[in-house]
Amino acid sequence: MDQDRIVIFDTTLRDGEQSPGASMNLEEKLGVASLLEEMGVDVIEAGFPIASNGDFEAVSKIAGIVTRSTICGLARATRNDIERCAEAIRPAPLKRIHTFISTSPLHMKYKLQMAPERVLEAVTESVTLARNLVDDVEWSAEDGSRTEHDFLCRCVEAAIAAGARTINIPDTVGYTVPDEYAALIAMLIERVPNIDKAILSVHCHNDLGLAVANSLAAVKAGARQVECTINGLGERAGNAALEEIVMGLKTRADRLPYTTGIKTELITRASRLVSTITGIFVQPNKAIVGKNAFAHESGIHQDGMLKNAQTYEIMTPESVGLNQSTLVLGKHSGRAAFKDKLKTLGYSLGDNAIEDAFRRFKDLADRKKDVFDEDVQALLGDAGVGTVQ
Ligand code: KIV
Ligand code: ZN
Repeated sequence: MDQDRIVIFDTTLRDGEQSPGASMNLEEKLGVASLLEEMGVDVIEAGFPIASNGDFEAVSKIAGIVTRSTICGLARATRNDIERCAEAIRPAPLKRIHTFISTSPLHMKYKLQMAPERVLEAVTESVTLARNLVDDVEWSAEDGSRTEHDFLCRCVEAAIAAGARTINIPDTVGYTVPDEYAALIAMLIERVPNIDKAILSVHCHNDLGLAVANSLAAVKAGARQVECTINGLGERAGNAALEEIVMGLKTRADRLPYTTGIKTELITRASRLVSTITGIFVQPNKAIVGKNAFAHESGIHQDGMLKNAQTYEIMTPESVGLNQSTLVLGKHSGRAAFKDKLKTLGYSLGDNAIEDAFRRFKDLADRKKDVFDEDVQALLGDAGVGTVQ
C-alpha cells in the first residue's frame, strides 16, 4: 500500500495560544518553536502578526531562528493583515501566509455582514495579494464545515486560481462528524476544477470530542495536511491533538497507510513543555501524554503486562519518549505486580512472607488510593520480614 505523506501543521502558537489562559511570552514561544522544529513539524503557525506588537515580534523572531520548518502567519482577508504578516515572516527561509475568511451563511450574514458575492471577491483579492508577497499561500474557509457546498466549491476554485497552494476546510466550531466531514473532502476533490494544484488541509475543533476522528476520516478521504496542536490546546474545547493524530497514523498504519515526518520520541517532551509554560495541565487519562496513558493498576492487566506488554499496550512508551510503563500499586493490583515491585525494590522473600506482606498490602490499599514504594518499604520494615539485598 502507498504510504502517503501527511503534512503536519502545528498551530499551538496561534490557535493554541487563543485558549483562555494559554498566553506565552516571547522566550517561551521561541522554546516551543525550536522543539516543534526538532520534532519534524512541517509547518509552524507562529502567530497572528496583526493581533499585537508582541505577536508580530514573536512571529518575526521565530522566523529568524527556525530553518527547517515552514513558518506561517495568520491574516484575515485584508491588506493590512496580509502585509503585516508578510513582514513578520520575512526572515524565514521557508514562509507561508495563511489567509482566511468565513464562508458559511451564518458567519457571512452576522459576523462579516457581507454578501456571498463580496466574500468570493475577497477570496480572490486576498490570495492574489498574498501570492504577490510570498510563494506559499494557504487559504481557509472559516466555518467551512457549515458552508453551503456550491458556494464552498466556488470559493475553493477562486482561491486555487489566485494561487493558493493549500486549501484548508476548518470545522471551526467542532460540529461535524467523521462520515460527513470525509464526504465534504471527497465532494471537493470530485467537484472543484484544478483541486490537484493544491493540498487539501483539515483543521478540526474538539467541541464534540471528535477533532481527531474527524481529521483522520478526512485524511482517508484525501486530505493531506492536518492542523493540530500539542496537548490539543486551542479555542474552547481545543484543536485536534498532534500526538493523537501522529500516533494514530503510526499505530494503525494497517488502516491508515500514511506517514508523517514527526520524531515521535519527542512527543512527551513537547507535551510537558507546553503544559509547564501555559500552566494548563494535561488530564491524567489523556491519550498518549496523560499521566495514566502507560500506567496499569488492575491485577489482571498488570499480570498480562508482566508476561507481554502488548497484552495491554498498543504502542510502546519509548515510542513517545517515556522510559517505561508503570504498574501502579493500588487495591486492584494482584500478586504478580506486588512480587514484581518487591523485586524492583530489592527484597527477596519466601512464599509465606510474600503472602503475608501481600495481605497487609491489600489492607493498606483499601485505605489508601495509591501505594507508593515508601509504603511498601514501611510495610515490610514494620513487620520485620524484609531483607534488603
Ligand atoms: O478554527 C478556524 O476556523 C481557524 C481558522 C482561522 C483557520 O482557526
Ligand atoms: Zn481554529
